[in-house]
Amino acid sequence: MQSEPVTFHESHSFALRLWHWLTFITITASLVLVLMGSTFFRMKDNISVVQAQVERKGGTVTVDQARAVAHEYSDKMWMAHKYVGYGLCFLLFCRFIIEVTQPGKEKLQSKIRRALALNANTLVDKNDKMHYLWVKRGYLIFYLLFFIMALTGLGLAYEEVPMLEPMHDSIEDVHKFTQYLIYTFIVVHLVGVIRADMGKYNGLVSSMIHGKNPSQS
Ligand code: HEM
Ligand code: HEM
Repeated sequence: MQSEPVTFHESHSFALRLWHWLTFITITASLVLVLMGSTFFRMKDNISVVQAQVERKGGTVTVDQARAVAHEYSDKMWMAHKYVGYGLCFLLFCRFIIEVTQPGKEKLQSKIRRALALNANTLVDKNDKMHYLWVKRGYLIFYLLFFIMALTGLGLAYEEVPMLEPMHDSIEDVHKFTQYLIYTFIVVHLVGVIRADMGKYNGLVSSMIHGKNPSQS
């Protein structure tokens, strides 16, 4: 059987490219809000700040009153995270629609199946095939993590639904833990695409912008 070499020089559809960059922007916005909610707007740290500011202006405020003010700001931050989260849920749904509607050869599953069916004859071919499969399976794992984040995020957003109340703490634990796996994916992904672009797969990053296959231009 004649086998084509495995290469990351692939063209990506307009829908996938648009989805990719919108997802990049929305996840980054979500991460910035998480970072701010867990640092500058952390309720516990701001109780004393509120008290100090009111005292500087000649007033007094109890810990309870200061907590209410600090809580309001922290709440605003998490509300914003929730709304951006709805956007992420929509984007995940769009990715599913793109996968089922795009041409067969551009589907992630069919790329993996094609790579698996390749005859890798030399050590270089075998290494390329394994690398390609790791990367594409990595995307599948990312989609699974994204799904878990969306599901648990919605579970937290609708915490007052009676059926979800007893599960609140577990849902929160899963949401909190999975964030670290998402961060790991992002770091590995960024290092991976930049290294690939600077090495054997020059033009990889710009192909995610203009959509042309760099090996054919
Ligand atoms: C990359 C994706 C996401 C990351 C890294 C992330 C991270 C976090 C973190 C760290 C918390 C704080 C948990 C705590 O300390 O109690 C949180 C809370 C929350 N997240 Fe996400 N999240 C993501 C996606 C989503 C999505 C898709 C939704 C869907 C609506 C969502 C909805 C929420 C809600 C409602 C809360 C609770 C906020 C509150 O305490 O009022 N998140 N998220
Ligand atoms: C929040 C950050 C990011 C996330 C979550 C993310 C996610 C993804 C996902 C899921 C894919 C696979 C798409 C598919 O075929 O189904 C992908 C591909 C790609 N991403 Fe990102 N991305 C991020 C940031 C970036 C950035 C900043 C760059 C450019 C420096 C980039 C460059 C690429 C490239 C070149 C590909 C195609 C690689 C290939 O063909 O295997 N990504 N990204």
